[in-house]
Amino acid sequence: MNVLITGGSGFIGSNLVRLALAERPGWRVVNLDRLTYAGNAENLADLEGHPRYRFVRGDIANGELVAEIVRSERIDAVMHLAAESHVDRSILSPAIFIETNVRGTQVLLEAARELRVSRFLQVSTDEVYGSLGPTGLFTEETPLAPSSPYSASKAGSDLLALAYAHTFGMHVVVTRCSNNYGPYQFPEKLIPLMIANGLEDKPLPVYGDGQNVRDWIHVEDHCRGLLAALEQGKPGQVYNFGASSERRNIEIVKLVLKLVGKPESLIQYVKDRPGHDRRYAIDASRACRELSWAPRHRFEEALAGTVQWYREHRGWWERIRTGEYLGYYEKQYGGRS
Ligand code: NAD
Ligand code: TYD
Repeated sequence: MNVLITGGSGFIGSNLVRLALAERPGWRVVNLDRLTYAGNAENLADLEGHPRYRFVRGDIANGELVAEIVRSERIDAVMHLAAESHVDRSILSPAIFIETNVRGTQVLLEAARELRVSRFLQVSTDEVYGSLGPTGLFTEETPLAPSSPYSASKAGSDLLALAYAHTFGMHVVVTRCSNNYGPYQFPEKLIPLMIANGLEDKPLPVYGDGQNVRDWIHVEDHCRGLLAALEQGKPGQVYNFGASSERRNIEIVKLVLKLVGKPESLIQYVKDRPGHDRRYAIDASRACRELSWAPRHRFEEALAGTVQWYREHRGWWERIRTGEYLGYYEKQYGGRS
């Protein structure tokens, strides 16, 4: 089977490409990635020369390029992960989120339709459901109520994907996962940012009162879910993924400080994110039931493993935290305290 994975050089994509090649010996994987600030060829450097892997640098919104890849590689299935993925950047510069997440997804769907690709997996997020109060869980029936430009653009792309399933009878499956953590996560997201800042004795910026809740899942559990959803998901169906690991941000920041052996005095409460969703929590029972999937990693142990990975790969994130990153950091955090 020939599988096109978009965004394979990002955090989840690189974990997925590696897992797919290891666990699906019959697959050939083509990774289409534009290598934006978040994409990093280093994430898959170990696959250079792999006989079942090809990397193409390019934009998912380039219809000619996408059609050419799908045709020449005789693509059977698309796993679509390429996206602008960071809420804070979507508040600073929303336009690119619409271009990549909405228009890019439509371009891919159109190529898949015209060239009769058998399966299309739209990889999405629980953030499309908006924010929860202190109780309750997101199910697949929860109405969409996205609150950031990022989540609104993902909701738009989910609806397009489902419309292609409904209108054209395409085999499209949508997955919505909670917050991921693990190796190769770009150090602008909460967990890797706190680890890197802690290791460098820099302040750890906590938004608002630190009481916002996210539901955490290890990236490998998510990636196993994506393989299951592609292979066993029903057409036109949505599957939530999560690992029942709700934590308050401040708990995580304190845990990270303990794991890196640094004092809590590094914590700096800063001005809140505009429109900050209070709580996310996922009911993943449909995926457990219908896809025979279950998370394997426990949060505290897997967080310790993640901290260890960032300790051992200091060069990886130090090389990222230069150039563009410093400009973003200043814009996002400069004068925020
Ligand atoms: P990421 O930012 O680490 O990686 C995104 C990748 O997409 C990068 O390699 C980037 O170069 C590539 N890309 C961006 N624009 C592109 C374009 N126009 N054409 C081709 N490639 C492009 O993101 P991630 O955290 O790995 O997320 C991957 C997917 O999973 C996204 O669709 C995201 O919405 C979804 N998701 C993420 C999480 C999470 O916690 N990180 C949770 C649920 C769902
Ligand atoms: P993030 O990793 O950006 O994921 P998302 O907003 O998509 O869930 O943020 C996770 C939580 O951590 C969110 O409530 C915002 C908070 N946060 C901080 O308090 N400080 C930070 O510097 C960052 C990046 C996030």
